[in-house]
Amino acid sequence: METEIGKNVFSNRQQQRGQLEERMMAPAARPEEAVQEQTFRPQRLDDYIGQQRVKENMNIFITAARARGEALDHILLYGPPGLGKTTLANIIAGELGVNIKVTSGPAIEHAGDLASILTSLAPNDVLFIDEIHRLNRAVEEVLYPAMEDFHIDIMMGKGPGAQTIHLPLAPFTLVGATTRVGMLTAPLRDRFGVISRLEYYNNEELYRILVRSAALLGVPITEDGAMEIAGRSRGTPRIANRLLRRMRDFALVKGNGVIDRELAQYGLELLEIDSKGLDKTDQKVLRAIIETFGGGPVGLDTIAASISESVDTVFDVCEPYLLQLGFLNRTPRGRTATADAYRYLGYEPPAGKSFAGTLFENKD
Ligand SMILES: Nc1ncnc2c1ncn2[C@@H]1O[C@H](COP(=O)(O)OP(=O)(O)OP(=O)(O)O)[C@@H](O)[C@H]1O
Ligand SMILES: [Mg+2]
Repeated sequence: METEIGKNVFSNRQQQRGQLEERMMAPAARPEEAVQEQTFRPQRLDDYIGQQRVKENMNIFITAARARGEALDHILLYGPPGLGKTTLANIIAGELGVNIKVTSGPAIEHAGDLASILTSLAPNDVLFIDEIHRLNRAVEEVLYPAMEDFHIDIMMGKGPGAQTIHLPLAPFTLVGATTRVGMLTAPLRDRFGVISRLEYYNNEELYRILVRSAALLGVPITEDGAMEIAGRSRGTPRIANRLLRRMRDFALVKGNGVIDRELAQYGLELLEIDSKGLDKTDQKVLRAIIETFGGGPVGLDTIAASISESVDTVFDVCEPYLLQLGFLNRTPRGRTATADAYRYLGYEPPAGKSFAGTLFENKD
């Protein structure tokens, strides 16, 4: 057993290393990306690539709400980081022709903070709450009646003389976004009229996003150059755009300014991103399970410790993509590698081993 202090020192070190080395393929936004992402963000639903099912639904809801002149039903968007939740929220407001107020779960500390945001909304405005699973209880309770029938109850005074004031609000649309839908409380989840899950993008969709972004950046890219990057972007537009910016640098310094297949292959290899978009850490995770732990099942903590990586990185960055590729299973007894993972690393899958698994969302 590690001591508490030992553990902290360990995880701090991991964190620092993680920040230096592993961020290329992490789907979360980096601080410096905020401005760049703004350039890439499509403004209209028509320019929002992929997510066909979600898009069709939104189109109907938006058209109906506009026709009735009413606020759109509350919408919960969930899915892994970088798939376009914030982008879609902004598009919804734009298509509705209303203002959007943007805040996040951890930013709203007190019930009063939320009350003042809610009372500042104009009729049919959109309130976007990012990371909505991180709202605290007191704030959430204010949100219930606001969502349900557009009012808040404010306590005035203290003790026996305290009074509740019923304050009506302008009708509004709450758009909530979360990467951890399982952490939402049931009463909050139930108050959303529309709950949409964003899916990973296929290569063709990522290709179109890359071509669009390249045009916005003014960097020439060939068809197979864009395809090469698309295939290694982990189904995630944010990563695709990030790789594109890096390839632009390579094209400028090492090439003739054009991102073609050869250049993309060269650049992505230098970044140590393989043909399926796995980086060194993903590969280490797979190798640990297969080479060190006989294919599993093996616990998340054990995997992380064996490759000197933080549990959070393995859980949040590596595993979702390995699951998506069908290289990893989460079972009640730990992680196992699939037959495909064995083959990908050049091994024959062991005979007689069961590769069945079930999805378990928690960390243990
Ligand atoms: N459907 C899409 N079409 C074109 N570009 C997209 C699409 N979805 C996302 N993007 C681009 O990907 C980047 C990340 O998108 P966004 O910030 O909306 O993701 P997110 O789901 O809100 O991520 P997080 O969970 O980290 O908040 C943006 O720069 C955006 O332009
Ligand atoms: Mg976002």
